Order: sequence, then C-alpha cells, then structure tokens
Amino acid sequence: MQSLATAWRAAGLSVGLVPTMGSLHEGHLSLVRKSARENDRTVVSIFVNPIQFGANEDFDRYPRDLARDLDLCGQAGVDAVFSPAAAEMYPEGFCSRVELRVLTESLCGTKRPHHFCGVCTVVMKLFHAALPDRAYFGQKDAQQLAVVKRMARDFNMRVAVVGAPTVREADGLAMSSRNAYLNAAERAAAPRVFEALSSAAALYRQGVSDADQIKRHVDERLSGVPLLRVDYIEIVDAETMRPLESVTGPALCAVAVYIGETRLIDNIALEV
Ligand code: PAJ
Repeated sequence: MQSLATAWRAAGLSVGLVPTMGSLHEGHLSLVRKSARENDRTVVSIFVNPIQFGANEDFDRYPRDLARDLDLCGQAGVDAVFSPAAAEMYPEGFCSRVELRVLTESLCGTKRPHHFCGVCTVVMKLFHAALPDRAYFGQKDAQQLAVVKRMARDFNMRVAVVGAPTVREADGLAMSSRNAYLNAAERAAAPRVFEALSSAAALYRQGVSDADQIKRHVDERLSGVPLLRVDYIEIVDAETMRPLESVTGPALCAVAVYIGETRLIDNIALEV
C-alpha cells in the first residue's frame, strides 16, 4: 500500500483515503464519492480493528463480507482497497498506542474506555500506509471525527481530515453496519432516535438553550420506546466534545442507545 501510494504521489497525483471496517453502505459510499471528486486516487481501507473493541463487545460477530465490499468499491471507482490481516497490522511484539486526552473524556470515550485509543492507533497506521492528502470521516461518529482531526493537528500530520454529513435511511435511521443486527421489532423502534434528536434541534431553534432541559426532552421521547434503553444523552461543544450546561456556540446533541442488544449512536447539530 505504501509503495503504491508513494508512486502515485511521485507522479503528482493526490490521494484520498476512506478508512472503514467494511460491510459497506451508502454512508461509506458517500465518503468514497466525496474522495473521488476531490482527489486523483481514492483508497478504501477495510479492516475490522480488534483493538478498538472492548472485551464484551461485538468484534467476533461484526458483519464481514469482503467480496460484496470489493464489488461496491469497484462500482464506485475506488483505485485501491487496502484490507490487511490483523497479524499484518499487529504482528508479534506490537506494543505502541496513540492516546488522546480531553476529547476522549466524554460520550463514547467514557462508555468505551479503550475505544478511541484503538481508533487513533489504527488510523495513524492507515495514514502511514496510504499516505493520503485527505482522509474522510462521517459526522455520524462525531467524536471520532473530532478526535482524528485533533490527532492530525497534534502530531503535525500532513493529512487534511475531512468530515461529511450523516447518511440516513428514508425513516431517519442513521446508516450503520450494526443496523444489520436489528430484528424487525428493533428496526421498527430505531427511527425514534433520530425523531428525538430532530425534536431536540427544533426545541433549540425555538430558543431553549439550557442543556438539562434539552436532554430531558430527548429522554422523555426515548423512555417510552419499546426495546430501547438509553446509554447516554449529552449536549457537547462541537469541537471539544466537552459537555455543556448551556448552548452558546456550535454544539451537538449526541446519544447512544441500546435497542435490544445492539448499541447505536447518533447526533444532531444544534444550530439556529
Ligand atoms: P466504520 O464504522 O466502518 O465507519 C467508517 C466511516 O464511515 C467512518 O468515518 C464513519 O463515520 C462513516 N460512516 C458510518 N456510517 C455513516 C453514515 N450513516 N453516514 C456518513 N458516514 C458514515 O468508523 C469506523 O469504521 C472505524 O472506527 C475506523 C475509522 C475505520 C477505524 O477502525
């Protein structure tokens, strides 16, 4: 991957990278298309990264379908797919980690203690493999996007980290590889998450800026939903991910819920 990217760069071609864990959907493909518009070459990485999963999380059952993913990448005009084996990424003796503070001390960072360390470590490796000019991340994982942006800045990386909007199903559910876990009843409950977030954004537009009041509003909308259990509801600064008491600038309302056994996250910008 590195020699291919080096050759492209030597020929004056710009490189875009879309890191994924595969099981590709329209959310991933929107990033691919953005990269293809903005770069001469586009690389998609497909790697289910073991070190970003907790011990009792879904690493083993995470959906994997490389043949279908390669097909979709081919149709989307991807120039290279980088899909290393875990033993290539983390050979015997691998002992380094990339650790960010502050930004990882809220939301999923507190609920999934080693998650962002695993994400940053693999993303740094992917950056060094594919040598991208630009790398594309979805706003659906807003904290991940903020953390990766910060990492690139903190380590003087020469890659531009680019964010792109969340792609949703027709009923509002944010696309996610994990939606495949939902049975029919769970799938029917899932759109209520975006309904609650949209309602929070509307409340803010109506002039409510008190975070507790907005969070209560979301909680009330989610608490009656069958099969759904709230993991967190938080209002955070859009850049630092710090929880806010009151919204005065760019902010997000972010939630994590369990629907049955499946943990889903989503967020919405609070803006006038
Ligand atoms: P994965 O969940 O496969 O997501 C890959 C990229 O697609 C991420 O940047 C994510 O934010 C984006 N994405 C997922 N669903 C989206 C949607 N509905 N709309 C827009 N973008 C969406 O995130 C990861 O993999 C991993 O943590 C990774 C960054 C690859 C590191 O292992």
